[in-house]
Amino acid sequence: MLKIVVCVSGGGTNLQAIIDGIENNSITNTQIQAVISNNKNAYALERARKHGIEALCLSPREFSDREEFNASFCQTMGELNPDLIVLAGFLVTIPARMVSDFRGRIINIHPSLIPSFCGVGYYGLKVHEAALARGVKISGATVHFVDEGTDTGPIILQKAVEVGACQTPESLQKKIMEEAEWVILPLAINEIAAGKIKIGESREE
Ligand code: GRF
Repeated sequence: MLKIVVCVSGGGTNLQAIIDGIENNSITNTQIQAVISNNKNAYALERARKHGIEALCLSPREFSDREEFNASFCQTMGELNPDLIVLAGFLVTIPARMVSDFRGRIINIHPSLIPSFCGVGYYGLKVHEAALARGVKISGATVHFVDEGTDTGPIILQKAVEVGACQTPESLQKKIMEEAEWVILPLAINEIAAGKIKIGESREE
């Protein structure tokens, strides 16, 4: 059984896709141990509670400095000791110690086709604003392993989405979530749980 911890900052629709996948058996052999958010008002925490999943809030604001927050975050994660950490719209930089403690066991979903529109400063709607400003006809989403860089780890899965008639960052965000993110994040978790993707490797097909 793959034990996962999902880290979220906002609405948690990607978390919901994972919960649904486990409940409808499109994700097998997987259990969500806990959901962690930096934002106590994140609706994602409510989604977790509704499904009987432990929901924890760890906010940098409640610590005197980033070092103390990082230490507490690492300690909590160390106690949970999941097989896989899933960053599903998590806007906090993962402490270097956690990357090294969980090397190859952290994945992230990014709402573009890496290496386009990724890296420092490309998060949330900013990614879609940049894609529209460049006039790309295709964007998409990427699931990748997390290393010390920003969106630089090995790519696991990608799915392309036609920009089509989307004219606003919000409409493009919605299309990419529906057509790509909610598909490839559950799929990547299922493939990791099934041993088809080895820790730290890209998908072969
Ligand atoms: C998604 O677009 C994800 O790719 C990005 O943040 C958003 C999170 O949305 N990193 P949600 O909280 O899963 O609804």
